Amino acid sequence: MTGRFRRLFVGSNLKMYKTNRQTLDYLVQLQQLTRDIPRAELTLFILPSYTALADVCRASDPDLIWIGAQNMHWEEQGQFTGEVSPPMLREIGVRLVMAGHAERRQLFGEQDWMVNRRVLSSLEHGFHTLLCVGDTAEDVRAGVSQDHLRTQLETALLNVCCEHLDRLWVAYEPVWAIGEQGIAAKAEFANEMHAVMRQVLVDLFPQKNGDIPILYGGSVSLENAADLICQPQIDGLFIGRAAWDAENYNRILRRVL
Ligand code: PGA
Repeated sequence: MTGRFRRLFVGSNLKMYKTNRQTLDYLVQLQQLTRDIPRAELTLFILPSYTALADVCRASDPDLIWIGAQNMHWEEQGQFTGEVSPPMLREIGVRLVMAGHAERRQLFGEQDWMVNRRVLSSLEHGFHTLLCVGDTAEDVRAGVSQDHLRTQLETALLNVCCEHLDRLWVAYEPVWAIGEQGIAAKAEFANEMHAVMRQVLVDLFPQKNGDIPILYGGSVSLENAADLICQPQIDGLFIGRAAWDAENYNRILRRVL
């Protein structure tokens, strides 16, 4: 295992796939298939849809798998039709909250200041928090990927307290690498971007010395997972499509352990 941690972080965002029943079946299968893998050095997580969260939290073994939400409003309550609040997620046993996924930014107009509100609120409410950032294809063409990542991180992490940093994880998810049209980043390129992000984290929080897990996401597959995880700056994998089948998720895991 490389990376900075003696622990590997591997998770899947289920996006708007799988009903409650389907997610429960997937959870049971994933827990069975991976039960023998010691968790002392692995944090395994899934982010189901809101409708599946309560049942999945109840059915999951917290020693085997962490359950997280794909998004959360920053206020505790209020006139915010269609939104879900921190106490609602807390009560059902959610441990992890994601903020700033590329699809939220691109399809739902989420801006850096909103991601910052979500990150602050999530950490203040005691959740582990997975902040996603990523450059676009235009950034790559214009040669500004690193600047964009720096801005996203600096804005999303504005006013985060040091005592909350132990619960912060970050994911590098290049927008051009995500989804069916995506092309996975080359392992060396991803490593370079992780190093840039690590430096931004050191600059923001010198006392942490960069000890914040940085996961890579975007077209991770059985074929490229091992190459990615061998990189010294990559602490984990954040997987979409390739992990929605529990058997394939299990195969990927065993390749990277
Ligand atoms: P993908 O999704 O692995 O299907 O590209 C990754 C993500 O959106 O987190």
